[in-house]
Amino acid sequence: MYHKYNAIIVGAGGAGLRAALQLSTVSDVAVLTKLYPTRSHTGTAQGGIGAALGNREEDHWEWHAFDTVKGSDYLGDQDAIDIMCRDAVEAVYDLEHMGLPFSRTPEGKIDQRRFGGHTKYEGKEPVMRSCYAADRTGHMILQTLYQQCVKNNVVFFNEYSVLDIIMSDGVCGGVIAMDIGTGELHIFHAKTVLFASGGFGKMYKVTSNAHALTGDGPAVLYRNGIPLEDMEFFQFHPTGIYKLGILITEGARGEGGILLNGTGERFMERYAPTIKDLAPRDMVSQAMHREIAEGRGVDGKDYLLLDLTHLGAEVIEEKLPDVTDFVRTYLGVDPVKEPIPVQPTAHYAMGGIPTDVDARVLADETGAVIPGLYAAGECACVSVHGANRLGTNSLVDIQVFGKRAGDHMARFVRESPLLELPSQPDAPARALLDKIWSANGGELAGAIRADLQQKMMDKASIFRDEASLKTMQEELAKLKDRYQRISLRYKGSKYNADLMETVELGYLLDLAEALVVSALARTESRGAHSRVDYPKRDDANWLKHTMAFRKDNGIELRYKPVKITRFEPKERKY
Ligand code: FUM
Repeated sequence: MYHKYNAIIVGAGGAGLRAALQLSTVSDVAVLTKLYPTRSHTGTAQGGIGAALGNREEDHWEWHAFDTVKGSDYLGDQDAIDIMCRDAVEAVYDLEHMGLPFSRTPEGKIDQRRFGGHTKYEGKEPVMRSCYAADRTGHMILQTLYQQCVKNNVVFFNEYSVLDIIMSDGVCGGVIAMDIGTGELHIFHAKTVLFASGGFGKMYKVTSNAHALTGDGPAVLYRNGIPLEDMEFFQFHPTGIYKLGILITEGARGEGGILLNGTGERFMERYAPTIKDLAPRDMVSQAMHREIAEGRGVDGKDYLLLDLTHLGAEVIEEKLPDVTDFVRTYLGVDPVKEPIPVQPTAHYAMGGIPTDVDARVLADETGAVIPGLYAAGECACVSVHGANRLGTNSLVDIQVFGKRAGDHMARFVRESPLLELPSQPDAPARALLDKIWSANGGELAGAIRADLQQKMMDKASIFRDEASLKTMQEELAKLKDRYQRISLRYKGSKYNADLMETVELGYLLDLAEALVVSALARTESRGAHSRVDYPKRDDANWLKHTMAFRKDNGIELRYKPVKITRFEPKERKY
């Protein structure tokens, strides 16, 4: 089936919807999502969106920018960080004016709470910068934007899985997607395409990411010759529910919660004496991993405790209602009375599809753009998060760069003709599906995925070294070999979850390989990339972004400089 729109957006989370809304006043726009818009992963973001409103205490967007650069371990591009932190303020007020029900101060302003790595006077003490709606901030953003998009007649194609892009002479002219309900392939012909398809945390066993977070957008582009930037930096959030990985918001520590080891010690005082439990996530997760490795887990096990009991029932129930409910439901623990068993959980990809500050996808390390093709949100790397993202900055990122993507796409729509379709644009996607349908080697996607997730957890998570990464590379070769011998258990065309999961597993395998190869090459420790064999940051050799290209004979790595404007790299102390 054939469809024609000026603009196509892949993904209906906060970045995709914000871009769609921006475009909707000047152009037709269709959003493709493999879920339903209100099930997008933005809905699970809990603790807030950072913006220097100064509603609770003095704050400035320049302080936000300083914290973001320092939090990124100086790998973030400072021109993009300035844009994000400056525009964050307007982004929050935009959401308020659209009707988002923020929590309020007694005098009726948007309330703000503390979050990891956000400080005043450039690192002196924590600041209240996170604007929140209890612990449902992402959910409220999603609902608010979706309502606005419906009002503005944005067209939605729900349960469509994007399998390929249409390219001709280096210009993007649409996407190929499968209607999951029927198994039918659709050609979406467009002047411009935005990927806002989210992350790929499902390559790890313990993760806060939902089942759908399989990196479809980055993998589809990577297979089309587009590089992936800074894949070695994958964030582990300190407080996942033990074994399940479900997020307990950092807002819990922002409200005063503390982490305890098995001896009852508030161990973060040793690792980050100034801001303690509110240090950035890379530092807290690494500290937790150390506590456990050195035998100070609870009862010698691989978990620690998040203690909220001193906050009192009123604060816990009012400011953290959802996480309280999760903990009661999944652990049978009442956080009002008992500490919560937690462990770090794979949460966020700092790397992804390289873009400029207008969300235009970059073809290579020189900054050449691919006309018509855009990316924003977690699937993209602009790079505002560098080696480690600060909490609340993903919601800022999706609002600021989603809007900028919409603005630039609107201009592109006005100025550019529709690309002539190449012949049989859906042939590669059809071949991909045919190969999976006809494979008959007896291997099952679920089993390969479980092995991938366990091995990535063991070999390429919070700490890595050359040996673990080389082993993981060998394991990936074996997993990819097994993937060639896959068999579907269900061969029907309607709602074939087995087929979908097999396609998604292919994406995860490709992205895991890009992550491991990039991590193996980077012989330093920076942010979330912690090499046991190279424990120091090495600015002389590694103050640069990795660009991983998929080639017939393997992965080629190239590099490009970090954009430094105001903040020269310094030792990172908290
Ligand atoms: O902890 C949280 O509420 C997560 C926020 C984020 O990832 O920014």
